[in-house]
Amino acid sequence: MIVNLFSPFYYKSVFNEHYRVRTVLLNHIKQKYEENPNNQPSSWSCRVHTSQSKEDPIFEKVKGYYRNATDFFLKEINFPDSRIDISEMWYNAYGKGQWQESHTHHGNEDVYFSAVHFLKYDKNIHPPLTMNNLNRVLMEPRFEGRQSSLDYWNMSKNIEVEEGDIIFFPSLLEHQVNIQETDELRITVSFNVKVENLRKPKFNTQRVSIDGDPMDFHMEQLKEFLNDIPNII
Ligand SMILES: [Fe+2]
Repeated sequence: MIVNLFSPFYYKSVFNEHYRVRTVLLNHIKQKYEENPNNQPSSWSCRVHTSQSKEDPIFEKVKGYYRNATDFFLKEINFPDSRIDISEMWYNAYGKGQWQESHTHHGNEDVYFSAVHFLKYDKNIHPPLTMNNLNRVLMEPRFEGRQSSLDYWNMSKNIEVEEGDIIFFPSLLEHQVNIQETDELRITVSFNVKVENLRKPKFNTQRVSIDGDPMDFHMEQLKEFLNDIPNII
């Protein structure tokens, strides 16, 4: 018997405002790409044109549309009442010979979800977005950077999308874009979704060392949480 515990997921939808956003962004991004095809941050081990290190002011014109798509997604997955913020937004443009290495978007506080909008994408010629299973964990120093030889840990899945689709996924999910073989630009818009869950209990889920009786410590935390309830309902 297999009992599925906490499966990763992605959510896919047609982005209703695709054409409107494409009209605003496409020529701007193409021009930026031509100015400097490789401008990735030095900490990235890939070749791509990205605006990730500094948010492009042009996003002010379209952020509201992405915000609406985010609200719709959170409703679809029955996410609890939360304060939502699009914490970072950037575009990636790939030409021939460019790619992006496997990475996650997790790291910033309260970033729960990430999104990718396929602004200019042809599934017949462009590399897909590839999701990876848990490799990052196995690359941690405590595993001495070894990747497991077990196929399960190394499984990958290509995400099937059309231009105009938007996907959302938990920010911890590791993903990459394999090397592109065509000159035709592949352009995506990505952003992270910061979520302050208004019903998030403040219990610490880490093990902590406690002076005195652990029961007193937990009762104290419970009291604090109960005091907070009027503020979060
Ligand atoms: Fe990414």
